[in-house]
Order: sequence, then C-alpha cells, then structure tokens
Amino acid sequence: MNPKCIGMMWMCCIILFLFDICAVASRLEFKNIKCTNLDRKFSEFEECYLKAQNRTYKYMSIKVILHQKPVTQFKVNFELYKRSNGLQPISYNTTLDGCKEFSSARNPVTTFFLGLFQTYSNINHSCPYNHDLILHKLPTNFVLQQFSTFLPFPPGDYVLSSNWIAYGINRANVRVHATLI
Ligand SMILES: *[C@@H]1O[C@H](CO)[C@@H](O)[C@H](O)[C@H]1NC(C)=O
Ligand SMILES: *[C@@H]1O[C@H](CO)[C@@H](O)[C@H](O)[C@H]1NC(C)=O
Ligand SMILES: *[C@@H]1O[C@H](CO)[C@@H](O)[C@H](O)[C@H]1NC(C)=O
Repeated sequence: MNPKCIGMMWMCCIILFLFDICAVASRLEFKNIKCTNLDRKFSEFEECYLKAQNRTYKYMSIKVILHQKPVTQFKVNFELYKRSNGLQPISYNTTLDGCKEFSSARNPVTTFFLGLFQTYSNINHSCPYNHDLILHKLPTNFVLQQFSTFLPFPPGDYVLSSNWIAYGINRANVRVHATLI
C-alpha cells in the first residue's frame, strides 16, 4: 500500500472514532424524587415515586389530592440548577402563573419547563382546577428529549425544584434530582 492510502485509512479511522463518540446519545437518569407537602389542609401526595420497569424504561409518577377545590389562583416556581464545585452553575429560576400559562406558555423558558412533563399530566388547562393533579408515568427518555431540544446541556448532576404556590402560600415542593451522562 502506498503511504497516501495509509494516510487515508488513518483519517477514516479518526473520523469514525470521533463520529462514534458524538453518536453516543446522552443518557438521563432520575436519581431521586422528593415531594414535600407544606400544607396538609390544602393537599396531599398520594403518589410520588420513580420506577424502573426495565433497563430502558424508567419513569416517575405523582398524584396530588386537592382538599380545597376548586383552585382558582396558583403560581409555580421552577428552579433548575446544575450541581458544580463553585464553577459557574447553570441555573434557571422562573415563576409562572399556573392559571394562565399552563394552557399556553408565554416564553421559551416556561415552554421548556412545561414541556418537560405536561403531556404526561392533566395539568394542562386554565383555572379552575377541580380535580386531583396527576403526572402519569413520565419516562426519562421523554425528559431527555425535551432537555436536548431546548439546549445542549452539559453532562452533570441537575436538580429541578418546583414550588406550588396557591393564593400566595407555598403549599408543596417537588424536587427531582437527575444526572445527564
Ligand atoms: C421495557 O418495558 C417497556 C414497557 O413495558 C417495553 O415496551 C420495552 O420493550 C421494554 N424494553 C426492554 C429492553 O425489555
Ligand atoms: C428563585 O426565585 C424565587 C422567586 O422570585 C425566589 O424566592 C428564590 O429565592 C429564587 N431562588 C434562587 C435560588 O435564587
Ligand atoms: C390535558 O390532559 C388530559 C389528560 O391527559 C387530556 O385528556 C386532555 O386532552 C389534555 N388537554 C389539553 C388541552 O391538552
């Protein structure tokens, strides 16, 4: 073989190698979920768990019983941050009006937060809310897809914390810890 050919082969190898690295889809793993009820008179969590059906299908479910229906005014504060050792953390902190924006998000950041779970929930309309709140089997793969279409987030540990505020009082916190690999 002449040297030119060998050179080409090396080039191909390098390109294939790089391509292979790039082609490895990132993975998302839910590490844990914590639902904290802050007002038992207002609501309670009947379900709040992560489950692995098999290696590729993992999901989370949440069910909230509302004791004071209908709910006609609420806000949700979403905070997403990346855990890091003091280096510039990625963080988003936004509060939205649930009565208005759960039926139509107003900007890319709220669209992003709602897009993470909304199609797997019944939290998708304007007020009043006169039913229990359900997040039904939200799969990790779906969340990963939503993450990737918003921004290429770097690998790392992420925490998504949400505060559910009705009539100006924080009633519940839902916190999910996930790792992007
Ligand atoms: C994992 O479970 C889901 C849902 O039951 C199923 O559709 C999928 O084929 C399973 N995957 C594997 C690798 O067993
Ligand atoms: C996020 O925003 C809320 C409401 O504006 C504020 O109370 C909270 O302290 C903020 N969180 C962080 C980590 O800055
Ligand atoms: C909201 O979610 C429920 C339950 O998943 C579904 O039946 C309904 O069509 C959805 N409504 C909208 C406006 O997306």
